[in-house]
Amino acid sequence: MTQQPVVSPPPADEPWTVRRVLEWTTSHLKKHGSDTPRLDAEILLAHARGCQRIQLYTQFDEPLSDAVRAQMRELVQRRSKREPVAYLVGQREFFSLSFRVTRDVLIPRPDTETLVMEILDGVKGLSAPKVLDLCTGSGCVAISVAKNNKATQLTAVDLSAEAIAIAHENADRHHVTDRVEIRESDLFAAIPVGSKFDVIAGNPPYIPSAEIEQLDAEVSQHEPRMALDGGADGLTVIRRIIDAAPTFAVPNGLLLLEFTPEQAGTLETLLTDHGGYDEISIRKDLAHRPRVLRARFRS
Ligand SMILES: C[S@@+](CC[C@H](N)C(=O)[O-])C[C@H]1O[C@@H](n2cnc3c(N)ncnc32)[C@H](O)[C@@H]1O
Repeated sequence: MTQQPVVSPPPADEPWTVRRVLEWTTSHLKKHGSDTPRLDAEILLAHARGCQRIQLYTQFDEPLSDAVRAQMRELVQRRSKREPVAYLVGQREFFSLSFRVTRDVLIPRPDTETLVMEILDGVKGLSAPKVLDLCTGSGCVAISVAKNNKATQLTAVDLSAEAIAIAHENADRHHVTDRVEIRESDLFAAIPVGSKFDVIAGNPPYIPSAEIEQLDAEVSQHEPRMALDGGADGLTVIRRIIDAAPTFAVPNGLLLLEFTPEQAGTLETLLTDHGGYDEISIRKDLAHRPRVLRARFRS
């Protein structure tokens, strides 16, 4: 059995300084299953103190106020129950932008930055491209595209009214409300008939239902089921998108969908058998895993 390092509380007459709290919290979170206990401790303490993480290092010997200690106790307790740090501090960085997140939205993942890069590549050179972001959640994909290509007009939809509220907040925060229209919609249901998009993109739920319970507790117990559950084989929502998307695409427009690496082969077959798509390819993420399905709509 591995021995856990023991960090004892300071003697009663020694103050709880930044350093001591970081050491104690790191040790505690390690025992409670965190893979990144020191990083978690730093982010939570910086949040409780209302400072930058770097400032913890320049203020190592400062004692914490009672109010900060009380807040830190609560945060550490929640983190010990595997609540994700992003939910505890209410934000997560994605594509170098800070997004508000709550338990109503999936926490944006670095993997999904590949989808954003593919969308930006797909609209490059178009004068006023229209992009549809299906399954927008926090709005991180649509908003990152809007911030990085000022010519793009985006429509972002989600089935969850709570997620839509967060996406609105994030669009406000990043000043893109004039170019990102956000709608509550079951995929294409609320998209007006006759609308046409240059790029139809999305990061839909794609985890097979039976596999959700086997994921890390942070995901299975805390992230919204609606954001994860892709039905029996994980492809229920993706199949619906593949079937409906051609009606809403300009000729030669692009379909870009994120998926989990194991689904690559099945997805290529699905698209090929559909008959409405050309130039089918799979893009890899920064870790070189298959991650985004790319195809052109037949004209
Ligand atoms: C994997 S999350 C992606 C969130 C965000 N785009 C991201 O990449 O972080 C999937 C999202 O799809 C939404 N969703 C699930 N079924 C949907 C449907 N039928 N129509 C629209 N959105 C749906 C969920 O509410 C969730 O916000």
